[in-house]
Parts: sequence; C-alpha cells; structure tokens
Amino acid sequence: MLTLGIESSCDETAFALVKDGKLLDSVISTQIDIHALFGGVVPEIASREHYRLIGYLYDSLLAKSGIDAAQIENVAVSRGPGLLGSLLVGVGFAKGLVAGTNKKLIGVNHLHAHLLAAGLEQDIKLPALGLLVSGGHTQIFLIRAADDFVELGKTLDDAAGEAFDKVAKMLNMPYPGGKFIDQLGKLAAPDKKRFTRPYLDNTNLNFSFSGLKTALSLYIEAHPHLKLPSLNGVDELFNGTREVAELAELCASFNFTVADTLRVKMQRAVDQRKEQGDAINSIIVAGGVAANSVIRDTMAEVAKNNKLTLTLPSLSLCTDNASMVAYMGEQLVLKGYSHGLDLDAIPRGRK
Ligand code: KG4
Ligand code: ZN
Repeated sequence: MLTLGIESSCDETAFALVKDGKLLDSVISTQIDIHALFGGVVPEIASREHYRLIGYLYDSLLAKSGIDAAQIENVAVSRGPGLLGSLLVGVGFAKGLVAGTNKKLIGVNHLHAHLLAAGLEQDIKLPALGLLVSGGHTQIFLIRAADDFVELGKTLDDAAGEAFDKVAKMLNMPYPGGKFIDQLGKLAAPDKKRFTRPYLDNTNLNFSFSGLKTALSLYIEAHPHLKLPSLNGVDELFNGTREVAELAELCASFNFTVADTLRVKMQRAVDQRKEQGDAINSIIVAGGVAANSVIRDTMAEVAKNNKLTLTLPSLSLCTDNASMVAYMGEQLVLKGYSHGLDLDAIPRGRK
C-alpha cells in the first residue's frame, strides 16, 4: 500500500511516500530563515510560502522517487492542530490530488503523527505513554492504538519549545533558539536550585511554563551582561571568542528545570496508570524539543526506573516532517478510516 503524506501545519512544507510501513522517499522545505527575521513564525507569510512551494515540492518528490502519481493509493495530510491558513494549503492540495480518483483521503492529527513517527524505525510497544514536546505543544497522551489516543495532560500556557525559544530570544539568540540553549548547557553543570520547577504542587498532568519564563526574564534583566550583543553573535558562543561559563550555567539550569518538570509529570502519569490498572509497555517522547539532550537522558531514566521501553524517534523524525503523516495515514487506512472531500482543517483543540 502506497501512501503520500503532506505536512504544512506550521513552517515546513513537506511530502513523503510510505509503503507498507517503510519510508520510500521524502522532500522538505523549511521557512525558518524567513521567520527568523521576525523572531517567530508569521502566520500570513507561512501560508503564502506553503502556497508558493507546494506544487513544486510535490513534483520534485515524484521526480526524485521515480513514483508515478497514479501509483499513490492514499493521500494523508496534517489536518491540525496548526496554523489555519497553512493547514488549508495542505488540505486543499490533498483534495486536489484525490478528487475524481479512487485514492483515499485521510486527515491526520499532527500531534498523534509526531508520537507514532518512530514506528517507521522500530516496533512501538503499545499501550504507551506519549510525551509530545514541540514549539506549539506540550502534552501527555495514553496511546492504546493509532486511533485511540487519550489526552491526559497539556500545557495551560506556553509550550516547552516556546519557553526555550523565548528564553533564547531574551538572550539575543536567533529563532528558534532551543538548540543553542541545549548546546550551551552541555558546557556546564546545572544549578538545580536556581529556578523553581513550575506547576508541580498539584496532582494533575498539566504543565505551565509561563512562570519559569518570567523567572528567566527577571534573572536575565538582573544580569544583562549575559545577553549577546546582537542576533549575529551566536557564533561567538562556540568559537572560543566569548566567555560563556556563566551563560552555560544558566542554560544548564534552565535545561534541568524543564527536563525535571517533565520527569515529575511523566512519573506521575506512570503511577496514575498503574493505579488505574492500565498496563503500559513504553514511553514515547516526540516533537522538536525531544531533540534536547537533557530531556532525552531524563526520559531514559524514567523509562529505566519503571522498566519500560523508551522510544525516541531519530532527530529528523522529531521535527515537523511528512513521513510521520504518511505513516499515520497508512495506520488509519489499515483500521478502515478515510475522509470525504468535506475534510476540514482543525487549527486547535478538537480531534
Ligand atoms: O516539532 P517542532 O519542529 O515544531 C513544532 O511543531 O512546534 O518543534 C520546534 C521546537 C522549537 O521550539 C525549537 O526551539 C525546539 O523544538 N527545539 C529544541 C531543540 N531542538 C529543537 N528545544 C530544546 N533543545 C533542542 N535541542
Ligand atoms: Zn509539529
């Protein structure tokens, strides 16, 4: 079974071909450099860029893979959550490919696709607890099957990636700065008491990162010498021309605080499932922030302590991509799902 995946929910336009659970080929174009000029994703520009490129990218995938469009049996597309204008470009393009043919159309939940992406590389042991940490989302799911996701917790304000990117921005690092905080943090040991782990004094599985962001803001305002002199100064951090010990410690402390907050909530999720008598086989961590080295190590510990398998997609499957959309689409077709041409884009919330 040959499935095309289309991704256009945020600032990546991407296509992929998946055949019987295996990735055949993919193409991706990122708009990061454009949005970096504005310090964040500008929705109007994002949708226009998707619209400008989507046809060319599709043609380039077919040319690169040698697959004829007629061979494609299913067209899976991210239907949300994401930016409405951007989603509509992908959903509209998918409908255009399917209309008047026998191809199946499948609208895919982008978050669910992130969490099952690792299925392209390894067997995923379900039921699993899934932690999705990206620029737009921080959620914990109970995953029983491709069509059975239960949201157990979510962020009440900023997503984890948003907190990373905003702190990076306060330090004058280019957008998206999460990876610079990660890299710098590796150069120092964290001060584990520097920042309070946010929103743990409760019994739920939700998150709130806005207070931590404010704590960082106050700290940086009190230590303005930590800021880079200009947005172009990021090279100085790694080429030895700038003293970075104090900044590295700040980054390490921030990395620790976020990772340890995620650890407490994931452990709580494991404990609560046990109390409910739900068997869990693995922990899946996905989304762009799952690239963070401290979070990866911390989740490995949680899995080990609870004798669970840890599933982490490789880095190219962590960030937005169409392979995960094609894979998820195929899983849903196998379960008998498909959509009509009335498929809607769902920017937030609903399934
Ligand atoms: O999943 P993703 O590619 O896009 C969304 O759907 O949001 O995630 C992007 C987010 C950005 O906030 C970026 O700064 C963050 O992932 N990120 C990281 C790292 N690599 C990417 N955050 C912390 N440490 C990293 N190594
Ligand atoms: Zn995403």
